[in-house]
Amino acid sequence: MKGLVFSPASLADWLDLLNRTAETIANHLPAGPYAGGMPDAAARTMAAPILPQTACSPEQVLAGLGAVVAGSVGIWHPHVTAHLHCPVLLPALAAEVAIAALNASMDSFDQAPAATLVENRLCEWLCDRAGFGARSGATFTSGATQSNFMGLLLARDAFSASYWDHPTRLKGLHPESRRLRILCSTDAHFSIAKAAFQLGLAADAVVPVGGDTDRRMRPEALSQTITDLRQLGCLPFVVVATAGTTDFGAIDPLREIAAIAQREGMWLHVDAAYGGALLLSGCYRDRLVGIGLADSVAIDFHKAFLQPVSCGAFLVADAAYFKLIEVVADYLNPDPEPGDEAFSHLVNRSLMTTRRFDALKLWMSLQWLGERGYAELIDRPIDLAREAAAMLAADPAFTLLAEPQLGCVVFRLANVDDRVNREVPRRLFQEGRAVLGHTRIDGRYCLKLTLINPLTRIEDIAALLAMIVTCRDEIAALTPR
Ligand SMILES: Cc1ncc(COP(=O)(O)O)c(C=O)c1O
Repeated sequence: MKGLVFSPASLADWLDLLNRTAETIANHLPAGPYAGGMPDAAARTMAAPILPQTACSPEQVLAGLGAVVAGSVGIWHPHVTAHLHCPVLLPALAAEVAIAALNASMDSFDQAPAATLVENRLCEWLCDRAGFGARSGATFTSGATQSNFMGLLLARDAFSASYWDHPTRLKGLHPESRRLRILCSTDAHFSIAKAAFQLGLAADAVVPVGGDTDRRMRPEALSQTITDLRQLGCLPFVVVATAGTTDFGAIDPLREIAAIAQREGMWLHVDAAYGGALLLSGCYRDRLVGIGLADSVAIDFHKAFLQPVSCGAFLVADAAYFKLIEVVADYLNPDPEPGDEAFSHLVNRSLMTTRRFDALKLWMSLQWLGERGYAELIDRPIDLAREAAAMLAADPAFTLLAEPQLGCVVFRLANVDDRVNREVPRRLFQEGRAVLGHTRIDGRYCLKLTLINPLTRIEDIAALLAMIVTCRDEIAALTPR
């Protein structure tokens, strides 16, 4: 068994395996954005029995890993621009090794003493950065889908308790919950709709609020929607503002929305999964003005913070709301004895029980880069997006849909069938030439550059645009006239 389970006795074997694994990765990295087509070698590896009768040799196991690496997307390549899917920082990658080796679980102090301190300290720092006060609190999450769910759950249960004097956790949904409404922009992330049905609300509980030409929620439309809903007997209880929509990177006017939410007695949740990175920006931080007025905020670090999946956080302006999800388990968080106050059991703040020590990788990255270093990494893709937009606007082959607010640039090939805009990214992916973003706006296919890689240069974008035009011409040549 020596050499199998991590322990001081297995350190030499572990180092050897780490080195061989790193070598295998290095030897199989895709040369371009993607090898193209189906990952055939990985499929062949998978055709062997999943659980062989006898152990495979390390060489065989690593060969399988090599096939998986070769069939992966080269997220570091400048022509991979499809999603908010980032290349990762080296200190974070190093932290992942420690996270796995220590295997701290964040639910109870006795599984994660130092880790609890690190996460607590980071959470305090995050709340402070967001402009939250002394009563605030936060927890790390698997990402914004979970953080958005938490925001809506706390909002629903806080409303139920104050409006109906009905604690949902004890009594279930109030009989009149059918009247509850969640307001968000038309471009809000689909995790809001997903959260709604998990919270026992019907599809019509999520009410879209119209946006301006920059696709930001219009405060007047929000006020009007609240009035209209109340007249219909509905109970709008939460506004979800987005700081950085997935397609356009649009940042809703947070200060104005916060004023409306406060006036109307509604919870404000800000989905800052993407735009939350501006908290560390050197040039664009003022775009988040008002975020500190929210009741809760979702931030992802596995997007513009360049952290490996998964790493996100949920922040709440008043940590007392975590009580709404607290369930005491005698084996984890029994009543504290005098003197136990210093030990926090983080399970009390989370919807999860066993939970990774993801805070470590963010902490190591912050230390590694410092304020200025991180700001540069976050700002560069935003600067690049502006340059890319100017390039697109000046080129008659393209139509730019909106000026970018973060790193996303949405555009179309001009003067072609809608179908060509669908076909180009599909073809480029199949052939491994580029992993280009695509989406549908107002029913029409669009192309998208999601610029998140700080090493991408404008020359890379120029080459990608030229490739798109070439691909357009290839498709035209194949199409019968
Ligand atoms: C604005 C926004 N919110 C939420 C999410 C969901 O985040 P996650 O994938 O971390 O759950 C995304 C994902 O891209 C997003 O762009």
